[in-house]
Amino acid sequence: MHLSNELLSRPGMEDLIRGKRVIELGCGLGLPGLVCGEWLGAESVLLTDRSLVVDICETNLSTLASPGVTAKTLEWDDIRDLEACWAIDVIIAADCIFQPLYGASFPLWDVIKRFNALARDAERPLPTILLSSERRPNDGVDAFLETAQAEGAEVKEWWRYEDFDGSGQHIYIFEITCS
Ligand SMILES: C[S@@+](CC[C@H](N)C(=O)[O-])C[C@H]1O[C@@H](n2cnc3c(N)ncnc32)[C@H](O)[C@@H]1O
Repeated sequence: MHLSNELLSRPGMEDLIRGKRVIELGCGLGLPGLVCGEWLGAESVLLTDRSLVVDICETNLSTLASPGVTAKTLEWDDIRDLEACWAIDVIIAADCIFQPLYGASFPLWDVIKRFNALARDAERPLPTILLSSERRPNDGVDAFLETAQAEGAEVKEWWRYEDFDGSGQHIYIFEITCS
């Protein structure tokens, strides 16, 4: 929800998304992806998650009539299927790092690196990565970002919602740029 809100309200977002090929990783219901497809003019949006979740996404999409938005299974620890034809300009992921519950986050970083490698092979610009995370104790987000930085990525904090709505939730949104 926070990433969707930021995509809709932050200046320059339409320029970032319009005409681009967007993938959402660990999409759940895929709200940020749908925002990119329905409101920000993405050329295409691929919502991805584990197969059970993708089944639900497909059901939702069948009622929404969003022609540029499709759903496909993508498990981060099994990226053999990552197809070279998936030319991606923007990668988004919302609340996908919480190591105590979702497990180690390095497979998510591996997926991002694989998309970078596909872009390099095709001599395309590397994708822009937008990541939102609810910060919780020992969530693994810092380690994830440190890994990305150690591998040459630049991490910019876009926004932080501290104690959002008095709920005690801390939501951070990052842009990660690789070179
Ligand atoms: C907390 S949910 C976030 C869902 C949605 N992005 C949101 O913000 O509501 C984390 C998502 O990551 C997905 N996920 C966790 N581990 C995964 C993996 N190894 N491969 C693919 N998806 C995974 C889960 O299925 C789940 O949909």
